[in-house]
Amino acid sequence: MRDNIKQALKVALSRGYQLSPDAVDYLREVEDPLSLISHILTRAIPNDRYVIDRHMIERYLESQANKAQVGLASASEYDVDIKVLESPITLNVDPSFDGFLRYFRDRYVLLSSLLRSRLDMHDAVPIAEAKKTSGEVCVIGLVYDKRSVTSSTILSIEDPSGNIDVLVPEDPKVKAQVNDIVLDICIGVRGVMRNGKLMAEEIILPEVVPPPPPREAPPISMLLLSDLHVGSSLFGGQRFLRLMRWLRGEEGNRRMKELALSVKYVIIAGDLIDGVGIYPGQEKELAIKDLSGQYKAVAEYLAQFPEHIRIIVIPGNHDATSPGLPYVPFFKEYAYPIYELDNVIVLPDPVLVSLHGVKVLISHGRSLDDLLSALPGATFSPEGVIKAMRGLLRFRHLAPIYGSRTLISPMGYDPLVIRNVPHVLHMGHVHICAVQRYKGVILANSGTWQEQTEYQLSMGISPTPYIVPLIRLDTLQVIMLDFH
Ligand SMILES: [Fe+2]
Repeated sequence: MRDNIKQALKVALSRGYQLSPDAVDYLREVEDPLSLISHILTRAIPNDRYVIDRHMIERYLESQANKAQVGLASASEYDVDIKVLESPITLNVDPSFDGFLRYFRDRYVLLSSLLRSRLDMHDAVPIAEAKKTSGEVCVIGLVYDKRSVTSSTILSIEDPSGNIDVLVPEDPKVKAQVNDIVLDICIGVRGVMRNGKLMAEEIILPEVVPPPPPREAPPISMLLLSDLHVGSSLFGGQRFLRLMRWLRGEEGNRRMKELALSVKYVIIAGDLIDGVGIYPGQEKELAIKDLSGQYKAVAEYLAQFPEHIRIIVIPGNHDATSPGLPYVPFFKEYAYPIYELDNVIVLPDPVLVSLHGVKVLISHGRSLDDLLSALPGATFSPEGVIKAMRGLLRFRHLAPIYGSRTLISPMGYDPLVIRNVPHVLHMGHVHICAVQRYKGVILANSGTWQEQTEYQLSMGISPTPYIVPLIRLDTLQVIMLDFH
């Protein structure tokens, strides 16, 4: 058996999938079976499928070919159309008790009003009022504790009027809802008051509703990247140069060249550099050991993108930015070479932009670590990453869990609430590429350009580098590209 077929089998097995004998036969005819299987694994595979067969591979290839074919235009024929719709207002950070109190009050106000706008939540009453009543009641609160007692779960929730214990019974429907509840999110509870406790019958999350499709976006595209980690000796510089050669029309077959010409925007969701002193033993893996030098090297790469492409960048936790979310745009003191580039727009994390009417919510995804350890079944795999990102949309918050690995800078209001539902939620951070649609929103994690670090190896994290989602603005179709 060819080595790369063996590797493809190994990769599939490591993610919990098997290849059927007809799929293995099919792969013998394919030029690069490993990258084909890697592509399929990063795409949505139905939850109930654990065997990849020939039919699944053929369907995947056919859909990719169809997507790429129809009427893409040349991006250079279109003017730039970028609008920043929502961006954190820079206010003074107040890390005092009162500062956090104001922050969480604002989180409650924003998310409870989203919940209250639902038809089935109109009759929600303050918790203090609910405690005085008996019978059916509906309340909205932030979850501050979750614990198991014998066969039930107790959720403690609070609103500005008080707090209450919510008893979640064994009922399979409610039990399934409570499994995915994490701390500090805002939930609605409908149930019955009994002896000062609320017996839950239904738990309601703020959830997103599908956004109206973009109107009249041109047939051009955007490319999603993240986690370049320039400055690390593990940054795949040669592969990145290959990406730029492709974008300049110097590499690839006719279909790939057509795709390259359609790219008008490149969005990089943080960690442009590897930074300094971020994880134990990092200095051994650094090729450039200072922040300015690392940004200078990034700028040299970004300057080589074709002139008609606009590059949007935000910071990640490896960049020179504030320690807590929201992350301010890169500190100019270190990142000045980036600010000198005319083709680059530097923005904070999070930020909601419109590209010809296509709304893209960009955030590095620092909180995904917290979600991956709190949500059952969310592991460092494409499926796990999607589960965590889906959680963010369901909770309508970009960093719901407080007090874990994600630091938050309280500024009197909560800029991390997802008020405006985007067409695309673009993140990085976990170095695992994964794309899937949820309620009309494309969840896209654009992976990385860095090979596995010693630290990731010790944590059992296997990155999926050099895979890039391209999204057509007019149809919102996603095409996965491989620069291995
Ligand atoms: Fe990263």
